[in-house]
Amino acid sequence: MTKLNIVILAAGIGKRMNSKLPKVLHPLAGKPLLRHVLDTASSLSPHKICVVYGHGGEQVPALIGDKNIIWIKQEPQLGTGHALLQTLPQLDKKGVTLVLYGDVPLTQTATLLNLIAAAGSKKMGLLTATLDDPSGYGRIVRSKNKVARIVEEKDATAAQRKLREINTGMMVIPNAFLHRALPQIENRNAQREYYLTDLIALAANTKAAEKIDIVTVEPEHPWETLGVNSKNQLAQLERIYQTTLAARLLQQGVTLLDPARFDQRGELICGHDVEIDINAIFSGEVHLGDGVRVGANCILKNVRVAHGTQIAPFSHIEDAVIGANCRIGPYARIRPGTRLAADVHIGNFVEVKNSQIEAGSKANHLSYVGDAAVGKNVNIGAGTITCNYDGANKHQTIIEDDVFIGSDTQLVAPVKIARGATIGAGSTITKDTPADTLSLSRSKQVSVPGWKRPVKIKT
Ligand code: UD1
Ligand code: CA
Repeated sequence: MTKLNIVILAAGIGKRMNSKLPKVLHPLAGKPLLRHVLDTASSLSPHKICVVYGHGGEQVPALIGDKNIIWIKQEPQLGTGHALLQTLPQLDKKGVTLVLYGDVPLTQTATLLNLIAAAGSKKMGLLTATLDDPSGYGRIVRSKNKVARIVEEKDATAAQRKLREINTGMMVIPNAFLHRALPQIENRNAQREYYLTDLIALAANTKAAEKIDIVTVEPEHPWETLGVNSKNQLAQLERIYQTTLAARLLQQGVTLLDPARFDQRGELICGHDVEIDINAIFSGEVHLGDGVRVGANCILKNVRVAHGTQIAPFSHIEDAVIGANCRIGPYARIRPGTRLAADVHIGNFVEVKNSQIEAGSKANHLSYVGDAAVGKNVNIGAGTITCNYDGANKHQTIIEDDVFIGSDTQLVAPVKIARGATIGAGSTITKDTPADTLSLSRSKQVSVPGWKRPVKIKT
């Protein structure tokens, strides 16, 4: 195969984003726009990837932080042709260069492979689209059916503006031609910019010996070439992207109660018969086993959930491993470092952090379980708190198998509740408790006869 270089143009200002963050760093599905383009670029196994950056300065390479990229600063920014010119010393003498835009995130690998294949090693390949409303884009001007040049909207005649075939900007250029032709581009146009698109006229109109053929390819989906210039367009592309992810899951057999209210900001791997209700947000890497159900408004980040588990609405789970057939929520909060074995129940307003809970144990209501090791078949009563923090250090609570903790108990760590122990409701436990005993720390109940409630003093 022909040696492939990829150049991603990402130096533009992005004024209409109205943001201090460089445009290409704005996230789409939780990932910077430029990272989407880089991931697609990598999928083509190129020989090298150059990124032209400028606006936002060193923030762009710093935040993307990819050692395999050749970063090239363009300052000042004098147009797309000028941008590509900066990369010329880095480009191979042979092979071809694919030009992508850092703010066009949804182009599919298959489309780019088509473009590269159509261009081969000697032709120029343009990714074009035919739009109902072509305004703003460079128009493809043909002569006897062959591409003759690209005219930018600002330089176009009224007749040219009616052309609906547009330049998406993405193109494949043979490197030999690029090295020869790019330095010849001038800026005699309405915007006083060096237009990369002027290469097309150079390819089509030079002397017969230097002429190269130009082929055009259209993408499968029109949205593949959409760019982001405003927050409005960013929001539109986000929805398009989510719709494609949702469609993929539906096709795999996942039930999405409303694919329009689904958000995946990372990787989501689902088993058979998974059901996801509305407004769930998945980020990082999430695995849902067979038969898992995720209720409405749940947020899951870097979570593995084993088969049969049901997560009721409004639960928030992060950096955790959840065993099979668990019942979580509604309104559960499971924080990093938590590992639940099978058949565990974590109910409403229960927070679990950095704790292991073994099979069959339950904390059904209003509790905090932090830095704890909880055994099998433990019942943690409503309002139980592990007091894990002494103001300076965190300490562990150990609760062994078959323990029963009465409601409204404080377990002051470090403390161990041995196997089979029962803790009476309302206790503050500061010392280890022996196995198979009842421990409680309560003052005796008294009743005061004749006691009167205070009455409100009238003023
Ligand atoms: C460009 C094309 C136009 C095409 C349109 C598709 C040219 C002259 N025109 O127009 O035919 O229809 O894209 O969206 O190429 N950039 C730099 N340095 C610069 C200027 C731009 O890196 O000096 C980058 C931008 O960050 C952006 C890309 O190049 O990623 C396109 O720039 P933009 O200004 O949006 O080009 P258009 O004028 O829209
Ligand atoms: Ca543009």
